[in-house]
Amino acid sequence: MKYGFIGCGNMGGAIARALSRSTTDIAVADRSGKAKALAAECGIVYSDNASIAAGCDRIFLGVKPHMMKDMLAAIQPALARRKPLLITMAAGLEIRQIEEFVGVRLPVIRIMPNTPTAIGKGVIQYCCNDLVEAEVLGDWLADMAPCGLVDALEERLIDAASALSGSGPAYMYVFLEALADGAVACGVPRAKAYEYAAMTMIGSAELYLQTRQHPGALKDAVCSPGGSTIAGLRAMEAKGFRSAAMEGVIATYQRNKELGK
Ligand SMILES: NC(=O)c1ccc[n+]([C@@H]2O[C@H](COP(=O)([O-])OP(=O)(O)OC[C@H]3O[C@@H](n4cnc5c(N)ncnc54)[C@H](OP(=O)(O)O)[C@@H]3O)[C@@H](O)[C@H]2O)c1
Repeated sequence: MKYGFIGCGNMGGAIARALSRSTTDIAVADRSGKAKALAAECGIVYSDNASIAAGCDRIFLGVKPHMMKDMLAAIQPALARRKPLLITMAAGLEIRQIEEFVGVRLPVIRIMPNTPTAIGKGVIQYCCNDLVEAEVLGDWLADMAPCGLVDALEERLIDAASALSGSGPAYMYVFLEALADGAVACGVPRAKAYEYAAMTMIGSAELYLQTRQHPGALKDAVCSPGGSTIAGLRAMEAKGFRSAAMEGVIATYQRNKELGK
């Protein structure tokens, strides 16, 4: 088959789901059988690690970083013989470590995706080693189009980008929930508060993407002198709003670095 997924949980499942809109030539595997439902839903095949290693040309590695070494060891002979394209999404693991685990040089793409990939609104950074041929990369990028933004980035910056967009959905959901909690505290019904918060996040981001105006200018357009929005922002800044966001990204980056050691 063209694509295989070894590990098909939150992230592998999100990519398999999006990829299946380009091609259904996909096999997925996990340990528990949970991915069977995804396979049935997306019209793709449920398989096992050995069959994927023996038969797929491009294999997504969707297991947790600390499980990667043992998982690859179990299928090492087939990988060393066939040298399929491996696509690793493991946070903090470098391409050279994947090559070391397999024990031979083979084509590897490293990606850093996020969960909105499942609905085609993902952000995916990628880099690859010198064994990935331009034609294969071009074809892979075309297949990945339903995932969202797929952007080339030097490997040395992947952990930093991951701390923003890979982990970012978690920050966004906490922010969304907190904004809604504020509105609920002011009397807005819970369901409406979530809806308004989510649409405000989407709309504000979309307005930035469409206009490319500086975020500060877009913020200024909402803040009348002496008005209520600037009063709210002042209260947020007094609680360390910007600093909390910056320090959160930096702490995630540092943890990514630790996990990769
Ligand atoms: N979640 C994110 O937002 C995110 C973002 C960027 C990168 N990543 C990266 O994506 C990878 C997966 O993370 P995740 O959040 O998707 O984890 P997850 O939901 O726990 O999924 C892990 C998957 O690996 C499977 N698995 C574990 N050991 C296996 C084995 N020996 N053979 C076959 N399948 C095996 C699990 O199967 P069972 O469920 O059956 O045990 C599960 O399907 C990680 O390397 C992570 O760094 C995640």
